[in-house]
Amino acid sequence: MQPVLKPIISRGQIQARLRELAAQINRDYAGQPLLIVGILKGVFIFLADLVRLLEMPVRIDFVRLRSYGDRDSSSGRVAITKDLELDVTDRHVLIVEDIIDSGLTIQFFVQHLQQQRPKSLKVCCLLDKQERRTCSVPLDYVGFVVARGFLVGYGLDFAEDYRQFPDICELEL
Ligand code: IMP
Ligand code: MG
Repeated sequence: MQPVLKPIISRGQIQARLRELAAQINRDYAGQPLLIVGILKGVFIFLADLVRLLEMPVRIDFVRLRSYGDRDSSSGRVAITKDLELDVTDRHVLIVEDIIDSGLTIQFFVQHLQQQRPKSLKVCCLLDKQERRTCSVPLDYVGFVVARGFLVGYGLDFAEDYRQFPDICELEL
């Protein structure tokens, strides 16, 4: 049977929200240089759209994290499979992530970066999916809060499919 994809956030809604998020980030950092750290792969479209709206000098780096767990939930054990290439020490750092679910992945990564003594460290995510949150990590910039569901499109995948869809859709298997 074909999976059903139900659009829940349109490309227009995403772009409008991104302009608001970027305005907030531009105000908060007020021209100070910012090091953006994107968590691959799901973030690639969101990050590309967001950074083009930022007005301060920006540097960009990426990490790839692998979290262990069953098919669709994380266990909290996280490995870095591609590490940072830029030095975060004494810089304003903004982690950019596609979606926060249990929160275990971002919790691990925030703790990891804190050890490298950035000047400041904040988190920006496109989607904050609250139903299965098991740890409390402060999220400084949130695109959309969603209650539940498995979401794909705009960079997010299910088993590597659907990343290229322009709208965010709920996947009904
Ligand atoms: P967490 O550690 O449980 O917060 O899981 C976060 C990671 O799981 C995200 O970076 C995504 O890669 C993946 N993930 C969680 N929910 C979804 C979803 O609805 N669609 C696509 N990926 C998801
Ligand atoms: Mg991810």
